[in-house]
Amino acid sequence: MNLFNFRFNSVIGIEISSTAIKLVELSQIGTGFHVESYAIEILPENVVKDNKILKMDIVIDSIRRVVKRAKPRTKYTAIAVGGTAVFTKYIQMEQALSNEEIKIQVETECIQNNKPLEEMNLDFQILKSNNHIDVLIATCETNIVDDYSNAIKQAGLIPKIVDIDKFALANALQLVIETSPEINNNEIIGLIDIGATIMTINVFYGNKILYTDKKLFGCQQLTKQIQNHYNYNYLEAELAQRYQNLPNDYYTDLLETFKTNMTQQVSRIVQSYYSSHNSDKLSHLLITGGGSSIANIIKPIYTKVGGHVSIVNPMASMSIASRINKAALIKDAPTLMIACGLALRSFDEKLS
Ligand SMILES: Nc1ncnc2c1ncn2[C@@H]1O[C@H](COP(=O)(O)OP(=O)(O)OP(=O)(O)O)[C@@H](O)[C@H]1O
Ligand SMILES: [Mg+2]
Repeated sequence: MNLFNFRFNSVIGIEISSTAIKLVELSQIGTGFHVESYAIEILPENVVKDNKILKMDIVIDSIRRVVKRAKPRTKYTAIAVGGTAVFTKYIQMEQALSNEEIKIQVETECIQNNKPLEEMNLDFQILKSNNHIDVLIATCETNIVDDYSNAIKQAGLIPKIVDIDKFALANALQLVIETSPEINNNEIIGLIDIGATIMTINVFYGNKILYTDKKLFGCQQLTKQIQNHYNYNYLEAELAQRYQNLPNDYYTDLLETFKTNMTQQVSRIVQSYYSSHNSDKLSHLLITGGGSSIANIIKPIYTKVGGHVSIVNPMASMSIASRINKAALIKDAPTLMIACGLALRSFDEKLS
């Protein structure tokens, strides 16, 4: 199966992340989008790690459960792969090459980057053509694509699109930019995703990714502290943390210390960006992922980093089906950027 296979009418987006299976189903009403269904199924510890499925049976069961809860109208699914198994690069080519010639250049690029072709899924997308062609190449280890696709198939769904996680983020961000009057398409945007295990920064100019970096930092550090402090097992701690069902000393001690630490990490990842892209000032710093759900996290980040800092909600401009619990969706939305970006692929027909 190819990466970037954008020719299907309607897909649900399913993200298999380190803490959860997240499902989003969207439809289009006029020029806007509508959330038809969504659900999040929390995974036990060490089931998915470093973007690899370690316990296939549990992932399959969890996908079945998430589908049973959301009840989407289609089985066609878009999934995302990421992490070290994925390699992406923009390359420039002369105009008027045939697809076959581009393919040869892409393969040459992979070989130069020590990617054995027989073990890779490989795809490319032509982004624009003036007097040259910008080609975005993407490769992913075949065994990772196969694992993710098999999990989806064995759960009774049909994998139709395999995307790259940061491109799904970019896709959701594009909608946020288009629907946010305070953000212009010609501004440089830093998107920081604070997940459970990894913090990433992607810097965008329009839909082009200028810079990517990551740090081994995430909310799971806080989960571990909750486990130790209150003698909880992983799932007890994870649920208590998400639903903020913890004694007062959690808020005054553990959470405050974690917020200070997180602010420091955000500041460092932004500084690393500036040390290589000094002149490309970030017009906006958008925060997403579970870390952005922490109460009052924007103020300390703003105080430390400055500029325009906000939490990004990919569904802010969407209408919501009446059967969805709106309060729960507002809380969960910042963790649904990738699933949303995947579900939005349904409306990418113009790319085919
Ligand atoms: N209100 C909150 N307070 C503190 N932590 C929270 C809150 N809400 C969610 N989290 C934490 O955020 C994490 C989940 O966020 P997210 O869904 O972005 O992670 P993930 O995508 O599974 O992780 P990764 O990207 O590292 O694979 C969990 O560790 C969860 O405990
Ligand atoms: Mg994540």
